[in-house]
Amino acid sequence: MSANREHFSSRLGFILAAAGSAVGIGNLVGFPVSATKNGGGAFLLVYALFVAFICLPVMMAEMAMGRKSQKDPYGAYKDLSGGDKRWSIAGGLAVLTPFMIAVFYMVITVWIFGYLVQTAMGNLDALANPSHFGQFINQTSVFWYMLLVGLIVNLILVGGVKQGIEKAAKFLMPTLFVLLTGLVAYVLTLDNAMAGVRYYIVPDFSKMDASVLNGALSQAFFSLSLGMGILMTYASYISKKDDIVGGAKMVAITDSLVAFIAGLMVLPAIFSFNPATNTDELSESSVSMIFEFLPKILLATQSDIGYVGASIVAFIFFLLVFFAAITSLVSIVEVPTSALMEEKNLSRKTALLVLAASTGLLTVLCTMSFGMVDWLTQFVNYGGANKSLFDLVYDVFYDTILPLNGLMVCLFVIYRWKKSNLNAELEQGCEHYKGSFGEKYVNFSLSTFIPVILLIIFVNTVSTKFFAFSIFGF
Ligand code: PHE
Repeated sequence: MSANREHFSSRLGFILAAAGSAVGIGNLVGFPVSATKNGGGAFLLVYALFVAFICLPVMMAEMAMGRKSQKDPYGAYKDLSGGDKRWSIAGGLAVLTPFMIAVFYMVITVWIFGYLVQTAMGNLDALANPSHFGQFINQTSVFWYMLLVGLIVNLILVGGVKQGIEKAAKFLMPTLFVLLTGLVAYVLTLDNAMAGVRYYIVPDFSKMDASVLNGALSQAFFSLSLGMGILMTYASYISKKDDIVGGAKMVAITDSLVAFIAGLMVLPAIFSFNPATNTDELSESSVSMIFEFLPKILLATQSDIGYVGASIVAFIFFLLVFFAAITSLVSIVEVPTSALMEEKNLSRKTALLVLAASTGLLTVLCTMSFGMVDWLTQFVNYGGANKSLFDLVYDVFYDTILPLNGLMVCLFVIYRWKKSNLNAELEQGCEHYKGSFGEKYVNFSLSTFIPVILLIIFVNTVSTKFFAFSIFGF
């Protein structure tokens, strides 16, 4: 299949699609809030350093593997290891992980879509009621929303790389940027907006401890879509002439910029609503912020612009989050899609049908694990608590396996595929990379401290999450 593998039509198409994957729900609310709670500018600085010095080399390695092999992640590990069976486990995980993360991300995207529809119907006042979210996620209407979101994602994916993924990203990403800057401009005019900006930007280094550092790195890793096989897959759709090094930098910058700008929307809104907000009490979870806290704040703008005005602002906000979520969802479903096409020789349509049925079933089960069905709600018990099916998927794949996949990429490119091959691939399309400081740094970091850090995060997460015991004390 590789001979006629589809490609992005341009470098810009690739960058927008990869940035579309990276810019997701976490960027828009989770990032700003955890930055504010964990040291403001100090967090922003540390985050930027993590992106540049830890995440970027991993991103380049993933992209190099994809472009070199022109395969899905499973095929990439297989081809580049010369068929070594041991690495097929890493390849399998790199396809299973996005499959499972697609399920948990779909659940949240469906809720966002539901809130978008509700604001469009003029129901913002109901959404702002604190008990609404709990009821909403257990209503049968979520299944209708799920059907529609599933249709949208599949309509994009069935178009393939150029006519589907690239076209959607070329429309959704610029629109997202316009909506975001529009909201920032509005929110900054509100009373007390600057208090929020101050909390967000003024550094407080006293908050920096091992657990904040761990949180910042995990956030950066997730935000850049690392360890999910996505960048490997997208990079398998670019040509040998394209510049991976420059592309990776652009994706990292766009993702971080959107996350930073989102803070200029969220924090001023929170502080104009309540100038005496205690940031320690804000929830770090994107879910509770988006669905339980922000609707209240959005509704409060009615004192300024009336109910219709507030509903329009809320609509724009949910549309923005929805666009961010859709491009991420598309990218994550594309990984198993390309694996089925490549490894099982299925057509794109059949692959999408197989995935719609399998992820669809799991998504339905996860959706029912918030109280609709008892055994799904109390699915397992670990780490000292009952966990739902949704919690399990989240804890295992998002929290635990992602750093493990990142670790595999580092070990694979350095010790199995070898530095010289990695360098040769990155040099193609970027001549000045050869012999540069960047090249030396990437080689050094991927073979030394990055895998060590990822290993520590992995071991620490397993012990704290599943055994309620912290080996490293954070
Ligand atoms: N970077 C995405 C985000 O911040 C992560 C992601 C990508 C999640 C693709 C799911 C699917 O939300």
